[in-house]
Amino acid sequence: MSANAEKAKLAGVCSVRRKTIRGAFCRLTLNMPMEFPHPAPGQFILISPQPHSYDSQQTRATKFSTRLSRFDMGVPQDRTMLLRPMSIFDYVKAPGRPNGLLTLLFKVVGRGTLSLSGVEPGDRLRFLGPTGNGFNPLECKKTLLVAGGVGISGVNLLCKSLLAGGHPPLFILGVNSKEESPVRLSLTEVVPHHRWAIPKGTEPLRLVVSRMFDIFVPSMVASIYPGDQGAFCGTACELVERLFRANPAYAEKTMLAACGPAPMLEALEETARHYSVRQFLVVLEEKMACGAGTCLGCATRIKDLTDDAREAAFHYERVCTEGPVFDGYRVIYRM
Ligand SMILES: Cc1cc2nc3c(=O)[nH]c(=O)nc-3n(C[C@H](O)[C@H](O)[C@H](O)COP(=O)(O)OP(=O)(O)OC[C@H]3O[C@@H](n4cnc5c(N)ncnc54)[C@H](O)[C@@H]3O)c2cc1C
Ligand code: FES
Repeated sequence: MSANAEKAKLAGVCSVRRKTIRGAFCRLTLNMPMEFPHPAPGQFILISPQPHSYDSQQTRATKFSTRLSRFDMGVPQDRTMLLRPMSIFDYVKAPGRPNGLLTLLFKVVGRGTLSLSGVEPGDRLRFLGPTGNGFNPLECKKTLLVAGGVGISGVNLLCKSLLAGGHPPLFILGVNSKEESPVRLSLTEVVPHHRWAIPKGTEPLRLVVSRMFDIFVPSMVASIYPGDQGAFCGTACELVERLFRANPAYAEKTMLAACGPAPMLEALEETARHYSVRQFLVVLEEKMACGAGTCLGCATRIKDLTDDAREAAFHYERVCTEGPVFDGYRVIYRM
């Protein structure tokens, strides 16, 4: 999809600098080696779920699994061999430091992520990356970023680069409830609207500009929990639909980029088509094995570019190599 496929990637070892746990979510900051190439928005790394010394890790994972009792998976019985793909949530190269700091934000869903959440500062982890093709946006006047839960990881770097380029996007985060959000939401921290290029139609929704990502970004939170004050009550897609309905001209000028569960992306595609959204890009989070284009474990169906709109006209592309960012209008979301 974009030019960064040709960019160098590195296989190496990084060390854990900081870890923060928030409910089922874990945020890890890693010291990357000096040679680590600067990642493009949308790229990801493959990371080993346990450090070199596995025995001490196993003890920590036991402690952590007791705290995360709702993920009652017990102690990992065996070493998790495969590296796990994770979007690069953030990457900073502080002035005066030779190496960069890379942040991952992930949800504990199984053995690998449970093990990864048990690492401690100082542990060393194998990695491969940055890898994959990142975003290649058209010149659009407006950008709308939509994240479902931990999908925020897939679009956060894009958000930062748009802000740095002087084109603040509008950000919509969908959560089950504010309490279950992967990032701390301070919905009361409102910045005056006129500082931002907010589309018409947003006003009745009570726009909340919050300090979600350590940077200010005009954002709205959609929560399906009715008690969440300051948040739109419903799904992220319902909020997008409401926004476009109030202001169809905005939709036609917009690049919509999204990361989240497949049903959310599928619903967004329908909305994007209905309102003729100019460009629709999605970050796919398929299961991966090799992460290097050889096993075909991550193959996904992409509609052929043909005038014939038959459902059957598709081919396979590898999320690890051709993706993870795809033209959202061409992905076949259903199994
Ligand atoms: C390019 C890419 C970027 C990703 N970025 C992030 C991220 O920033 N934060 C994050 O939390 N997760 C991210 N994921 C998903 C993450 O890789 C998986 O959640 C993780 O590999 C699961 O490993 P596990 O051993 O804990 O779970 P497993 O024991 O392998 O599986 C546990 C459950 O999770 C499901 N699952 C496993 N892999 C995936 C997957 N890739 N997508 C969706 N469901 C899966 C399984 O079906 C199963 O129900 C990303 C995936 C890809 C491909
Ligand atoms: S994970 Fe092996 S080809 Fe993509």
